Amino acid sequence: MDKLAIIGGRPLYGEVAISGAKNSALKVMAAALLTDKKLTLTNVPQLADVEMLARLLAQHGALIDFADGTLTLHAKDIASTEAPYDLVRKMRASFNVLGPLLAREGKAKVSLPGGCAIGARPVDLHLKALTAMGAQIELDEGYVIAEAPDGLKGADITWPFVSVGASEHTMLAAVLAKGVTVIENAAREPEIADLAACLNAMGAKIEGAGRSSIRIEGVDRLHAAEHRVLPDRIETGAYAMAVGATGGELTLTGTDSELLGAALAALKEAGLDIDDTEKGLRIKKTEARCKAVDIVTQPFPGFPTDLQAQFMALMATAEGAATIKETIFENRFMHAPELSRMGAQISVDGQNATVRGVARLKGAPVMATDLRASMSLVIAGLAAEGQTMVNRVYHLDRGFERLEEKLQNCGALIERVKD
Ligand code: UD1
Repeated sequence: MDKLAIIGGRPLYGEVAISGAKNSALKVMAAALLTDKKLTLTNVPQLADVEMLARLLAQHGALIDFADGTLTLHAKDIASTEAPYDLVRKMRASFNVLGPLLAREGKAKVSLPGGCAIGARPVDLHLKALTAMGAQIELDEGYVIAEAPDGLKGADITWPFVSVGASEHTMLAAVLAKGVTVIENAAREPEIADLAACLNAMGAKIEGAGRSSIRIEGVDRLHAAEHRVLPDRIETGAYAMAVGATGGELTLTGTDSELLGAALAALKEAGLDIDDTEKGLRIKKTEARCKAVDIVTQPFPGFPTDLQAQFMALMATAEGAATIKETIFENRFMHAPELSRMGAQISVDGQNATVRGVARLKGAPVMATDLRASMSLVIAGLAAEGQTMVNRVYHLDRGFERLEEKLQNCGALIERVKD
């Protein structure tokens, strides 16, 4: 398994081109199953997760071509309506093929995604929405077996709490349903509006995506379209936090401060100068150390759970004590003990972590069990004295495009060590 060797203590200077958002790319890719015409996606990041979903879509019959960030998907015929365990269990976003297959073919058999390292992550809301749209659903030996022989129909859906995955999945199914579907208490993440923009370019009729009430008027068929995936807000935030931990000045091109939601205010409060310039988002650290800032993870526009680990690495080097509260996932502090191995002072109590910043972290061999946690260790390694060896780089390859190259270009001493 590859590792990343980092010699820390060097500030970052230069430009980083922010990639297309993984979390959006994976959802718009599933939309290709809704039509027998070609879907062309641009600004698609070259990531292990994208390649894995492409393999699943190919298995369903899509012809796929991926070069230089342009991904074309053409599901002229659906070869199989079954998504096997091996392809779904590795990546939760694969589960989203259920809605499109059901909407187009009237049936689907898709493996349940199962739990994952950061918590239980159930899919009950996804299944409730499909059931409300008329699907008959059975669970059998770890598979969801769904049928809608007469097609799906529009429904009024109100959720008790916000779910990004269920909001996206419902849109993916409702675009071909008969009649109108209304989702109340929908998630407002930028990726939801991006998926709606892609579906609308394909001929869907979706209004309100990006707000908490979304209205989808079903259409008979969708057509060919081209869509550019929006910039990755988590990658944007992660590089901004790296500057906070190491010092220096980066311009993040192809992205936008509005995508950061509450993370923008937290980073400014911590002491970073952040400006939208003609070239991109300029991040500059002017003080020797950032200040401690308390955060609570919330659905967008709140502080994103996907940036919590990276923010903890930043707070580990800040002046003062910060409280970090994780409200989205119940087991998302696994980076805390690893950061502690580098000298961070962190105590975890249920949903809350208290981080007392230290003047200098110390390099150490570390490993993480999920993608964002791995990035927090990279940030800590960049700030630490001496060498940090980050194990299990495959997590990072799932979600951060050309990570070491982007950091090397800004002066970081980081190298991949092949096993
Ligand atoms: C979540 C994040 C998303 C992030 C992604 C990957 C939020 C609101 N969502 O999206 O920003 O990019 O993880 O890390 O921050 N839930 C149920 N039943 C369901 C679906 C969800 O109980 O059917 C619960 C989840 O366990 C969780 C909460 O609802 O506690 C929000 O989950 P959801 O937004 O669906 O998760 P993801 O789509 O994975």
